[in-house]
Amino acid sequence: MRQAGRYLPEYRATRQRAGSFMTLCQTPELACEVTLQPLARFPLDAAIIFSDILTVPDAMGLGLSVVEGQGPQFARTVRSHADVDGLKEPDPEIELRYVMDAIRLTRRELAGRVPLIGFAGSPWTLATYMVEGRSGSDFGAIKGMLYGAPDLLHRLLERLATAVTRYLNAQIAAGAEVLMLFDSWGGVLADRAYTEFSLRYLARIVAGLDRRGAVPVIVFSKGAGHRAVDVAAIGCECVGLDWTVDLGEARRKTEGRVALQGNLDPAVLAAPPAVIRAEAAAVLESYGKGPGHVFNLGHGITPEIDPEHVAVLVDAVHGQSRALHR
Ligand code: CP3
Repeated sequence: MRQAGRYLPEYRATRQRAGSFMTLCQTPELACEVTLQPLARFPLDAAIIFSDILTVPDAMGLGLSVVEGQGPQFARTVRSHADVDGLKEPDPEIELRYVMDAIRLTRRELAGRVPLIGFAGSPWTLATYMVEGRSGSDFGAIKGMLYGAPDLLHRLLERLATAVTRYLNAQIAAGAEVLMLFDSWGGVLADRAYTEFSLRYLARIVAGLDRRGAVPVIVFSKGAGHRAVDVAAIGCECVGLDWTVDLGEARRKTEGRVALQGNLDPAVLAAPPAVIRAEAAAVLESYGKGPGHVFNLGHGITPEIDPEHVAVLVDAVHGQSRALHR
């Protein structure tokens, strides 16, 4: 979860060199460099390609910029049927070729050291940004659409499910060895609305992936851990969980049908090393003995975190998990 990012001085330096976040994303050599930076520091077990979930709506014509200190913003929003009909259908090897080139280059550079994770946003989460136009909103516009014009929202989500499925299939073809779907705003939906507006489209994407059994898919609906059993039923291999749920309980409920990924509260990384070690141990013990746990943070690393604290966490997990997975 956000392996690269503003907590690493080398990331900030490369971003500076690129001039803007989008240039960083769109220059495969720089995206590859930033992908590999955390691996040079920490003995991590996987790499996640440096990109952003919002490159897809950008390629659909919305014009993305990531303003320092303000987060992502779109030049245009989607509010009407005409707006939805006007969205482009991006060809992943044309408009999003820079992502595929970054994946191909990074696979070559990794030379099999660790697997490379590709990713995309869920249709619901992408739609929230496309309708609101920016992050940090109160979801007023998209919830207005959900309850006031559900057919319009479904049309948008269908367009997004198609675009994301093609995008992820292209990532597999380019060399992604694991895929992760980020449904960062799944947890803001009412229970029935989650099923109809988020889970349904996640299921459609998983069913549409051409992965020939070899590319596992992780689905992470932040704030929707109480729906882990339903997420496990859509055909993914792994369910991502945030820190609001107990891994052991989620493990019992999903009955070994999927692996579970998670779920340390990233705020723990601000605490002294002894606390980081104890909290990591508590997460490992909450899952318990046996296979099927992918240790991860429950969300991204925030900019003020000392990279030394991340090193402590990685060391604690490697040191303590072996006994549980023998
Ligand atoms: O771990 C990695 O570095 C992989 C690359 C990655 C980024 N974004 C780079 C990035 C991944 C996997 C994402 C996913 C992403 N992007 C999500 C889903 C995960 C989550 O956080 O819920 C979402 C919702 C986005 C949209 C987005 N992009 C936001 C909200 C922001 C602002 C973040 C903030 O804290 O202000 C971005 C910008 C972004 N994407 C950064 C990074 C490293 C911040 C870097 C910068 O400003 O230079």
